[in-house]
Amino acid sequence: MRLLLCGDVMGRPGREIIAAELPRVRRELALDFVVVNGENAAHGFGITDKICAELYASGADVITTGNHVWDRREIMAYIGGDPRLLRPLNFPAGTPGNGHGLYRLADGRAVLVANAMARLFMDAIDDPFAAIDRLLGEHPLGAVAAIIVDFHGEATSEKTSMGHFCDGRVSAVIGTHSHVPTADYRILERGTAYMTDVGMCGDYDSVIGMRKEGSIARFVTKLPGERLEVAEGAATLCGVVVETDDATGLALTIEPLRIGGVLAPHWPRLARVPTPAK
Ligand SMILES: [Fe+2]
Ligand SMILES: [Fe+2]
Repeated sequence: MRLLLCGDVMGRPGREIIAAELPRVRRELALDFVVVNGENAAHGFGITDKICAELYASGADVITTGNHVWDRREIMAYIGGDPRLLRPLNFPAGTPGNGHGLYRLADGRAVLVANAMARLFMDAIDDPFAAIDRLLGEHPLGAVAAIIVDFHGEATSEKTSMGHFCDGRVSAVIGTHSHVPTADYRILERGTAYMTDVGMCGDYDSVIGMRKEGSIARFVTKLPGERLEVAEGAATLCGVVVETDDATGLALTIEPLRIGGVLAPHWPRLARVPTPAK
């Protein structure tokens, strides 16, 4: 199976590059399943039902989120009715929406997507390791063709630990939230594809997607300053493509995808020959 996860979509530039590029990417890479992290899609803060519809129309199968999920409060009433929109699974019991979903492709193969949130330098929510462990107990690899974990977190140590914790039990653990792609994409010892952070889909001539001036001023003056505004220049689409073995659910290849903006472009050289469209 060929999977793509796109990092945090940052405001309008992020939404625009997803709309402009994802349909072509999906076709040219013969992707089976696409996950997009949408936590910053609404002007940098949260997501709306209308934006969810736009991302699905562009080719997203599932939208994951993170600490910004509730920034647009109206999403709390919407999320329970949309099984393709996930929030971190380790929020307290009773939180609206779901932290994982089991999705069936047209050919019958099943994909499990889990969205978890880290705790170091973030809100002290429930233990993500225990939550993932419980979920994998209910859905072992083999019972489903592929399992993707979006682990949304700040600390590279916590994210790398989650990668090794899940090694051999899921197809891929991909980090989100830092908005900066890391170069450590690889297949771990027991066959799980891993990348500490996939980066964002947004304008990198910025401070993690926000206009430089306001962000720098906060560090220089230590005054609270004005609300940060999304940087509106050309975006880079940052994603990661993982190919899995349908027999084992484990990863065969992992490679970044970068299109547009100021980052060096990268188009994956995939191992598997795509099956021609019927
Ligand atoms: Fe984010
Ligand atoms: Fe985040």
